[in-house]
Amino acid sequence: MRAAVVERYGPPEVVRIMELPRPTPRAGEVLVRVTAAAVTSADARIRAARFPRGFGAMSRLIFGLRGPRQPVLGSAYSGVVTEVGSGVSRLAVGDAVCGMAGMKLGAHAEYLTVRADAVSLRPSTVTDDDAAGVLFGGSTALNYLRDRARLRPGETALVNGASGAVGTNAVQLARHFGAEVTALTSAPNAALIGELGAHRVIDYRQHAPEQITDRYDVVLDAVGNLSIAAGRRLLNHGGRLLLVVADLGQLLQARGNVMAGPAPETREDTDFLLALIGSSQLRVVHDSQFTLDDIAHAHRRVDTGRKVGNVIIRAR
Ligand SMILES: NC(=O)c1ccc[n+]([C@@H]2O[C@H](COP(=O)([O-])OP(=O)(O)OC[C@H]3O[C@@H](n4cnc5c(N)ncnc54)[C@H](OP(=O)(O)O)[C@@H]3O)[C@@H](O)[C@H]2O)c1
Repeated sequence: MRAAVVERYGPPEVVRIMELPRPTPRAGEVLVRVTAAAVTSADARIRAARFPRGFGAMSRLIFGLRGPRQPVLGSAYSGVVTEVGSGVSRLAVGDAVCGMAGMKLGAHAEYLTVRADAVSLRPSTVTDDDAAGVLFGGSTALNYLRDRARLRPGETALVNGASGAVGTNAVQLARHFGAEVTALTSAPNAALIGELGAHRVIDYRQHAPEQITDRYDVVLDAVGNLSIAAGRRLLNHGGRLLLVVADLGQLLQARGNVMAGPAPETREDTDFLLALIGSSQLRVVHDSQFTLDDIAHAHRRVDTGRKVGNVIIRAR
């Protein structure tokens, strides 16, 4: 099978298309032919070994010293089951599925094996691109807003970095949970973010977060330019600060109403997001699509830090 392989950390050019043996599903796993996969900010971080401050040494121990131990990156995928491992009864060959591959990664390839219990059935109302696109940012925004902040109807929320993969979902989910949403984004993206449901849009190039005088019940930072002190100043009494991007120092200080750390990937959350898309309550924003062969271009686009929503690669 063709796969995008990263042998050494580096710029987008280190990603090379190679022929690898097609994996075989073990007990409890299925083999999925990937039809669409996201190239996310996390994939680009791993490829470049560009980890948040303080995480460099620890991340290299986890992901690999000079290059990723799992050389095929990619987590969020949509595809079709082509083989079923022993002991799997809830999925069959031909099922349209999607999910997150977790630490095992491997979605930037024609095929990947995944644990059957981590796989969701993709409804026919959700496209491959939307399924692959929503999972990374959607499950993060969902975990932070619903599970950590317990955002309630009538509360106010500020989303910093509203046009990224996390931000486009955070704006819509905060609105879905009944919040009044203010979004920090740049002027070219303001109309889109308004369409996604933000009640108010602030151009961060005109007003830095520190200059905002309003106070919010929930502040979600998907950029990483808010200190804990600056974030706390934006909170109402009882407010919660969500540091989706946190350096090691912030992670160690995060407690009580300051929340940080990796968001879990669960099938229930995937199903929740798919249902919202299927009922037109959540829109997946797409920046660009590339073929697997052109994945270096996809990484280049993610590296700009300017992508709007999601970058998708398709197998063919
Ligand atoms: N904790 C977790 O589990 C978790 C999970 C997922 C992601 N993350 C982290 O969350 C961060 C965001 O991820 P992502 O995938 O959403 O990123 P992304 O899609 O690459 O974000 C790109 C967007 O950020 C906007 N942006 C850049 N600088 C900005 C600023 N100063 N103010 C406001 N917006 C700005 C850009 O808009 P403009 O062009 O308008 O600037 C662009 O649309 C990443 O650092 C990622 O590692 C953490």
